[in-house]
Amino acid sequence: MRHLLDPTDLSIEEIDLLMNRALDIIARPEAYSESCHGKKLATLFYEPSTRTRLSFTAAMMELGGQVLGFSDARSSSVSKGETVADTVRVVSCFADIIAMRHYKEGAPRVAADYSRIPIINAGDGGHSHPTQTLTDLLTIRRELGHFDHLTIGLCGDLKYGRTVHSLIKAMNRYEGTRFVLISPKELRLPDYMKQELKDNYVEVSTLEEAMPMVDVLYMTRVQQERFADLQEYERLKDTFILDEAKMALGRKQMIVLHPLPRVNEITVGVDNDPRAAYFRQVENGKFVRMALIYTLLKWKEEGVVSAANKDIQVYEDGGQRCSNDRCITATEPVQQQVYRDKDGVLRCRYCDHAI
Ligand code: CP
Repeated sequence: MRHLLDPTDLSIEEIDLLMNRALDIIARPEAYSESCHGKKLATLFYEPSTRTRLSFTAAMMELGGQVLGFSDARSSSVSKGETVADTVRVVSCFADIIAMRHYKEGAPRVAADYSRIPIINAGDGGHSHPTQTLTDLLTIRRELGHFDHLTIGLCGDLKYGRTVHSLIKAMNRYEGTRFVLISPKELRLPDYMKQELKDNYVEVSTLEEAMPMVDVLYMTRVQQERFADLQEYERLKDTFILDEAKMALGRKQMIVLHPLPRVNEITVGVDNDPRAAYFRQVENGKFVRMALIYTLLKWKEEGVVSAANKDIQVYEDGGQRCSNDRCITATEPVQQQVYRDKDGVLRCRYCDHAI
């Protein structure tokens, strides 16, 4: 059974299929309006959300299906100590597909291990946010028309920003992609992600340097909720602010994306610039989630297995322990599993951190 836990669960061809299906939904919404009649989506949100949860809800409603779930885990039996594994076993009895957001990295993978229905990762800690990536890709496709030979500027919190990590994994598979990394040194991209980029990136220290180089500027907020030291957050939160003067340095055809919510990192004066695509991006999120729900349910019915790159070998517990205290394995009694990546590095199967 197919789940979506990470962008690399999808092959390039499958991403194309989802993009084309989303475009078809935009062109012919009436053709899909009853396509999930009788089906139920469960939204299990252990962490706050506006866009992701509501766009999943709107998506299922526009496909003719129904939605159940919780937006605050404290109102569920999680507050009594129920594990992700048990919660998912239970919800599998009530729904046809699950969208899960969790503050622990790797929690959706635990869910997938125990679920009888497809799991969609709606964001897990600082790890991954694959449906935001599909949203970003649909926006790039609609705004720029192609994915090849693009220079992507990534600005802000590159350490904890799960949307950044997922977008890198997806875009790095297209021909000629280059990345420009713009962050405070304390919030630089983790080494395990830089290894994926090989030499396809440069790091710069100002937005002024980056602006003339990029086709896509991906702004992100500094993630307050991931900081142990709030003074550190206060010190770093306004390091990079995109304003009209900096926009004037950008290319005519470039676009600005942001997964939102924004705090201070884009001034409202930028909103009226036609290159500011972040609110158009939000709407694309609903269309691409419609395409995803429709497709995962269809694949389940048809028994479609993964065509994506799954040449990693999963090993049973050999005594290794993941040292990432934000990983689900730190709190949930799951069997530890590790895998060797294509460069031979031993990694946690749940959060991908090097062991
Ligand atoms: N982009 C995004 O994930 O927004 P929410 O946290 O509001 O869902």
